[in-house]
Formats: sequence, C-alpha cells, structure tokens
Amino acid sequence: MADLLGVAVLGAGHMGADHVRRLDGVVSGARVAAVADPDAARAKEAVAGIDGATVHTDPEAALDAPGVEAVLIASPGPAHEDALLAAFARGLPVLCEKPMVPDSAGALRVMEAELRHGRRLAQVGFMRRYDAEYRRLKALLDDGRLGRPLMLHCVHRNVSSPPGFTSAMLIDSSVSHEIDAARWLLGQELTAVTVVRPRVSAGAPQGVQDPQFVLFETEGGALVDVEVFVNCGFGYQVRCEAVCEAGAARVGDDHGPLVTARGSAGTDVPRDYLVRFADAYDREVQAWVDATRRGEVTGPTVWDGYAASAVAEAGVGALESGTRTVVELAPRPGLYAGTGR
Ligand SMILES: NC(=O)c1ccc[n+]([C@@H]2O[C@H](COP(=O)([O-])OP(=O)(O)OC[C@H]3O[C@@H](n4cnc5c(N)ncnc54)[C@H](O)[C@@H]3O)[C@@H](O)[C@H]2O)c1
Repeated sequence: MADLLGVAVLGAGHMGADHVRRLDGVVSGARVAAVADPDAARAKEAVAGIDGATVHTDPEAALDAPGVEAVLIASPGPAHEDALLAAFARGLPVLCEKPMVPDSAGALRVMEAELRHGRRLAQVGFMRRYDAEYRRLKALLDDGRLGRPLMLHCVHRNVSSPPGFTSAMLIDSSVSHEIDAARWLLGQELTAVTVVRPRVSAGAPQGVQDPQFVLFETEGGALVDVEVFVNCGFGYQVRCEAVCEAGAARVGDDHGPLVTARGSAGTDVPRDYLVRFADAYDREVQAWVDATRRGEVTGPTVWDGYAASAVAEAGVGALESGTRTVVELAPRPGLYAGTGR
C-alpha cells in the first residue's frame, strides 16, 4: 500500500461514493486513505470493505489523516472554496468536482491562492474532456479538415433533477459542462450569453424554468446553443454537433447496439451521467492519479474553473434579466497560459 497514492475523498454522496469505488477498485496507483462527510453514516457506507480508510465528519480532519497525499473534492459546490484553500494550505494536489467554486469571486480567491503557491495544484473535474467521443470531436476540430467551427448545437437532458434544483442550477450546474466543453473544443473564451425561456414542461418542479435555451457567443465569432432540459423523464442525453465551414460532426448518439426485434428497432438510453460518462470518469481519475504520482498537475485548470463560473454567472444574470449579458473575465495569469482551453 505504501507506494499507492493515499487520497482523501471529501463528500460521500452520488459522486463521492462513485469516486471512492473507482479509486478503490478501478484505477491503478491509488488507495482511499480517508473519507469525510458531515453525514458519518454515508461516509462509513462508502468505505465499507476498504482496508485502512479512516472516516471523518470534518473535512480538514480527513486532510490531516495518516497517509493522505492528495484530495478528491466531491462535496456540494458551495463547500469547494474552503476545501480547496485547506488543501492548498497543506500543499496537497487536488481533483475538484465541478463547479470548482460556484461564484466567480470565490473562484478568483482560489486562483489567487494557487498563484501564491506558485505552481498548479488543482485539476477541475470537467470529465467530458476525457470522454472518447468528445476527444475524437476535439481532434477533428483541431486538425482543421472540417474548416473553422461556426456553431455548436448542444443538448443536455436529464431524467429528473435532484430535490432543491433551481432554475439557476440548470445553468451553473448542468450547462457548466457545455460551457467548459465549448471553451475546450473551440479554444475560445465565451463572451456573452442570452437565455430564452420556452414553455415550462409539466414535469418541471414548481417554480423551476425547465427547459431553457441558452445561447453563447465566443471571442472568435462562433455561436454555441444549448437546450437544457433536466426533468425530461425519458433518459440522459448529451449531444454536441459542431458545424464547420467544410463539414459537421456530431457526438452523443451512440450508446450501444441497435436491437431490432418484434417489428421495431431501438437502443438503450443511459439513465444518468454515471452510466453515460463512466469511462470518462475512470480516465479522468486515472490521469489525475498518474500525473500526481509523477509530481505533475494536468487537465482542466483553476483558470478553466474560474472562467466556467464567470460564464455561468453571466448566464444566470441573462436568465433573470431576459437580456443578453456580457461575460466579465479577469486577465488570464501566466501560470495558465496555453493550458486548458
Ligand atoms: N462531473 C459530473 O458529471 C458531476 C455529476 C454530478 C455531480 N457533480 C458534482 O459533484 C459534487 C457532489 O455532487 P453529488 O451529486 O455527489 O451531491 P450529493 O448531494 O449526492 O453529495 C454531496 C455529499 O457531500 C456531503 N457534504 C456536504 N458538505 C460537505 C463538506 N463541507 N465536506 C464534505 N462533504 C460534505 C453531503 O453530506 C453529501 O453526502 C458537486 O460539486 C456536483 O456539482 C459532478
């Protein structure tokens, strides 16, 4: 066990428990050293059967637990800033689930703390960058054979939203994935947002604007539209079509064999992100463990986390005001030059 990277996992909910399972049994080179959750029973359940993992209700106690060399943050977004700052104060490398920090002012504070440290410590959990289909799309766009990208048409549908999910969370939680994917695929910052409100679905919880149609403009003049519909009831669907000057490419349609029987043909639709992006999470966490063991930090940066928060904040402003809203971004520090997007 001594040569395995000892990881503290903060938060043992849906994502945290899945990452504990992944660190313990899927990726190589790591072990779960500690788990923290204010709900002790949940933390205990997550580590059941895992040797040597300590259980805590205080996240900082988990960071100080014996054998902890790195941190995976899977607590709710509002808890991320404190967790990141506590990890940085201890010089611990971090994989932080999205959103890195939900508000851009908090994200800037995290960026300033990493800059004071003088080198990267955190990778942000935008796992679409590790999805095989998205990587193929990125390679196609980068090699230029389709010409310059003009538009991205994106779809993000969930079966249902968790309790307490608000209209703003459709943008700053769900669409945050499209925000990062668009910045990464196009290699451009998003500069303005408009949100249009379609008729509300009968399946939406009381008071929640679901679905929404979100339109981003980029610094290079491309447009990115996102249909986000988080209580669609029929399955988890994430699609992205890039329309370029000399062709178009679409990902997100292929989820298994097309079965023809009894006079109809069909394919499975995944029930949620844990199924659709299982391979992407595995690759993301493996890449983080491998880089950390080499003493490196790779993948989406704190700048990417900050930019996503700033764009999402503008998006929530656009939803509330009903008007086109410009994204305000701080200058990009040299530490993040040439990384991420
Ligand atoms: N990458 C993805 O595709 C993806 C998908 C879903 C969720 N997420 C992100 O993962 C994070 C967790 O989401 P979830 O769906 O697992 O939520 P969840 O509500 O299922 O679990 C969160 C857990 O964190 C615990 N918690 C609360 N405060 C804490 C603190 N200060 N320290 C440690 N634990 C604390 C809660 O008790 C709960 O058990 C969020 O940031 C969310 O946006 C990412």
